[in-house]
Amino acid sequence: MNLHAIVFDAYGTLFDVYAIGARADQLFPGRGAELALHWRDKQIEYTRLRTMCSMYKPFWEVTQDALVFCCRKLGLELTLDARSALMGEYAKLQPFPENLDVLTQLQNMGLKLAILSNGNPQMLDTVVEAAGMQSLFSHLLSVDSVKKFKTAPEAYQLGTDVFGHPARNLLFVSSNCWDVCGASWFGYTTFWVNRAGAPLEELGVTPTATGASLTDLLAWVKQQQAS
Ligand code: LAC
Repeated sequence: MNLHAIVFDAYGTLFDVYAIGARADQLFPGRGAELALHWRDKQIEYTRLRTMCSMYKPFWEVTQDALVFCCRKLGLELTLDARSALMGEYAKLQPFPENLDVLTQLQNMGLKLAILSNGNPQMLDTVVEAAGMQSLFSHLLSVDSVKKFKTAPEAYQLGTDVFGHPARNLLFVSSNCWDVCGASWFGYTTFWVNRAGAPLEELGVTPTATGASLTDLLAWVKQQQAS
């Protein structure tokens, strides 16, 4: 494989969207994990609805809308203070523990690294800076410039446009199976970081490779470079 660059999804892949459950649990004892799960699902559902109806708004606002809805649905009283606390936590989500080291090693192998995310530019800047990852990425690509969320082809095209290489020479990495499927349909070589041991989506498309963490990604890339 002639691998030119690696393009990463952000939320769920580099940054742990479910870690917010611990903070949510302090606000709503015993309900944090449930809220984190519903919040994430609703957030993604809203991105799809908005893209299908050309009703784009920035991911930060979509994320907050999803939080408000989920608290209402789960019968949790979301005060303004609680909302700001959870959104503040979202702004600086923790990276998965292996990520900084793996990204540094990939960069040291001479590979260009980028993020391609639904997150709007300010969100991406903040979360990447909080994780100390600024120097690792040549580009933080946000779908905000095309006003369509993944899995719209226009969103995935941001990666091919910026690197000027066909999608098959770029490796797209995500822990969201639906995102890997969308990127595979677009033509990327894909790696699914299946952290949760989830089943493959029944969409008639298969990732190029799968692993359980970014450490597995590193091993796979090294193997590809050696062959
Ligand atoms: C992102 C969402 C899909 O970072 O997690 O694009």
